[in-house]
Amino acid sequence: MSSFNLKVDVNQNGDVKKAADTLDDINDIDFSKLLEKPRPLNIERLRSLDERSLTELSGSPQLRNADNASSRVHDHADYVVTPSVGRRSGFNTPRSFHGFESHPMVGEAWDALRRSMVYFRGQPVGTIAAVDNSEEKLNYDQVFVRDFVPSALAFLMNGEPDIVRNFLLKTLRLQSWEKKIDRFQLGEGVMPASFKVFHDPVRNHETLIADFGESAIGRVAPVDSGFWWIILLRAYTKSTGDSSLADMPECQKGIRLILSLCLSEGFDTFPTLLCADGCCMIDRRMGVYGYPIEIQALFFMALRCALLVLKHDGEGKEMVEQIVKRLHALSYHMRNYFWLDLKQLNDIYRYKTEEYSHTAVNKFNVIPDSLPEWVFDFMPSHGGFFIGNVSPARMDFRWFALGNCIAILSSMATPEQSTAIMDLIESRWEELVGEMPLKVCYPAIESHEWRIVTGCDPKNTRWSYHNGGSWPVLLWLLTAACIKTGRPQIARRAIEVAEARLHKDNWPEYYDGKQGRYVGKQARKCQTWSIAGYLVAKMMLEDPSHVGMISLEEDKQMKPVMRRSNSWTC
Ligand code: GLC
Repeated sequence: MSSFNLKVDVNQNGDVKKAADTLDDINDIDFSKLLEKPRPLNIERLRSLDERSLTELSGSPQLRNADNASSRVHDHADYVVTPSVGRRSGFNTPRSFHGFESHPMVGEAWDALRRSMVYFRGQPVGTIAAVDNSEEKLNYDQVFVRDFVPSALAFLMNGEPDIVRNFLLKTLRLQSWEKKIDRFQLGEGVMPASFKVFHDPVRNHETLIADFGESAIGRVAPVDSGFWWIILLRAYTKSTGDSSLADMPECQKGIRLILSLCLSEGFDTFPTLLCADGCCMIDRRMGVYGYPIEIQALFFMALRCALLVLKHDGEGKEMVEQIVKRLHALSYHMRNYFWLDLKQLNDIYRYKTEEYSHTAVNKFNVIPDSLPEWVFDFMPSHGGFFIGNVSPARMDFRWFALGNCIAILSSMATPEQSTAIMDLIESRWEELVGEMPLKVCYPAIESHEWRIVTGCDPKNTRWSYHNGGSWPVLLWLLTAACIKTGRPQIARRAIEVAEARLHKDNWPEYYDGKQGRYVGKQARKCQTWSIAGYLVAKMMLEDPSHVGMISLEEDKQMKPVMRRSNSWTC
């Protein structure tokens, strides 16, 4: 048990004391439970670069020595290539699962994943969103950056890194395009939402066409693409042990450009990233504007991954310092203000309003009447989660799968919070997993609220698509989070649920209904990330060390910043 911090020292003003109480509560709750549970698996085989603390970094002589190009956060010797992985390019089946009975669906899934591969001038560069000719294609015939992530992880885990490398390099080239929507020029660092290969039959020539939001339905901005790109670059480096790709000046510049978009100083009073609606996996109007959890968790993870792959020389050094500062502020903000458990819910329920000055407990002036009815029933006695959004007088209490899983994987969540998130998933199994893992968010919005929030979106009716639909792709994130928190049995149960239907239903994009019983109204079939997500989940359960590619250990030094800072009290 000693690896768990049972008393978090958070003692800045009254409200922060409350946060400390909240964490204490989690500790109280989990202490006995943890004893019964398997301990989290040590997915890092060596003390890795990931564990080097931010504080250690910011004050390190390495950082002060700008010319030392090798002064990186990571030590290449730390990159662990899992022993079972060998190069298998050209094979049509997965490597055999030693000591593990492979499900017949696994072979089918690999065949389907390979059918989705996209080639550019003879090289594999990605996978298309869906191989479904029965529906109107729209942009499902494109390679989406976010959709490619589980495909990329599947290929990396199977010892086939080339397609991932090609993808990273091609999308990097696309980033350098001049991006315009009508007469408005987008930021240099913006990464595309998707791209496709255009074949000119006359010239017999192939070119890439990218979409940065200028063709997307609703002209939504793909804020998550850049974050996924950085996360994938680190996964590639970690899995192959080859840092030559990340070390390329073009890659270093690409990272800096992505992060410059987010780290620039402005009017913000919060360290979280302000976004428009539809800027992530939920790429339609769904009330996820402001500070949505999915973006905050991905932002946090991308910042931490960037620290591992950025060179600490010249321009890189300056950015590393900015990243370190932002991570401290962001983890504090998220762990305290986005966290909800029974205690915190009760505190909000009793909040006073209209408090002025830094002594305010209800900092965001949340009106207790805005608490939705469902949240009182949904909140279990043991457990908690990061809520959907926090901004002035607005808390979106909805539970979002992706943000909470990434919070666990990136260690934005404390170990206690991670355990609490898994406890909640277990206690709300029917609601969140039901007959198909996993709800994209819970609960659905209906009636008047649906009209206002979605703008009467017929695709996002209650319990469908982004509005409480169930997305098989989320299985890989759930599995990774389960393994990281030492709860693989939860993942096994979810995978079993998925295996009963996924292949039979031809890998739908999403399912509808309160329990996910129905294939989604407009769901594509043969959706690539449903296929890849299943494969990644299976491979991680078979060899939990794979999770290291997509997971970061807690930075032990992040905690001290939560202690009283004298400068705040002036
Ligand atoms: C839908 C999803 C989006 C995904 C795309 C391609 O638009 O909302 O997250 O990237 O389809 O599968």
